[in-house]
Amino acid sequence: MPEADSTTEVKNFYLDIPAQTTGQFYLKGSGALDWGMQNRLSRVFRPATGRTVMLAIDHGYFQGPTTGLERVDVNILPLVPYADALMCTRGILRSTIPSSSATPVVLRASGGPSILKELSHEELAIDIDDALRLNVCALAVQVFIGGEFETQTVHNMTRLVDLGLRYGMPVMAVTAVGKEMARDARYLRMACRICAELGAQFVKTYYVAEGFETVTASCPVPIVMAGGKKLPELDALTMAYRAMQEGAAGVDMGRNIFQSDSPTGMIQAVSKVVHEGMKPTEAYDLYRTS
Ligand code: R5P
Repeated sequence: MPEADSTTEVKNFYLDIPAQTTGQFYLKGSGALDWGMQNRLSRVFRPATGRTVMLAIDHGYFQGPTTGLERVDVNILPLVPYADALMCTRGILRSTIPSSSATPVVLRASGGPSILKELSHEELAIDIDDALRLNVCALAVQVFIGGEFETQTVHNMTRLVDLGLRYGMPVMAVTAVGKEMARDARYLRMACRICAELGAQFVKTYYVAEGFETVTASCPVPIVMAGGKKLPELDALTMAYRAMQEGAAGVDMGRNIFQSDSPTGMIQAVSKVVHEGMKPTEAYDLYRTS
């Protein structure tokens, strides 16, 4: 049994120092979130910059062994320490990513149709219990605004947001643009805003050269830029640079990193652009020399 604490005369209550408050949380639109959710978000978005470089390798959930992801153990594991967060499926996480990894995980939480079918026909593909068991920092759900199964995918997101709020798990809505839809600022403004209005804590969307700043400005929560199909490295770095200048809070890039000639060089170059505002040409030199 511990001894009674009777030495009150040596305690110091610092009566002259006002109690510190925790202050404003640094991420856009996230100030009213609970402590656990803010803590998870602060693992994904670096507190020092408020930005993130997420490495997306979840492509297999609808298209199988994508070029560059045939052997995640060989090609991707060396990149993981350079990412602020890894976006992947639970299958790859359990089978291939060491549990000792310090990189936080954003877990793919929707799925169903393969690339051979109507992609918007997704459902939730994981229990919140499993996400908690895997100690992930956020869940990702595809939302097909204007798609054939638009309402179903919005409902997937709102159900996931409800579950996430119960347990302090942020939800990232991914705005999927169907082949038949115009990928312009007008569409992306609508899609991102719908996701935020219905509760997503952050949104992943595509960059557009015209009006991207209106997409970020009209979305009340952080936006991370999706990478999309492989571009020449300088073009990809320029796109990331512009997205950051125009209000993005980071990037979530896959093919433009792991399909590069030098994935390690590319992810480091992207990180410089995102966190330090390095100019694209300078970042390109870094990519070429690493
Ligand atoms: C699908 O829409 C997914 O979110 C992707 O599998 C992935 O995250 C896309 O990454 P990227 O377009 O940068 O290769």
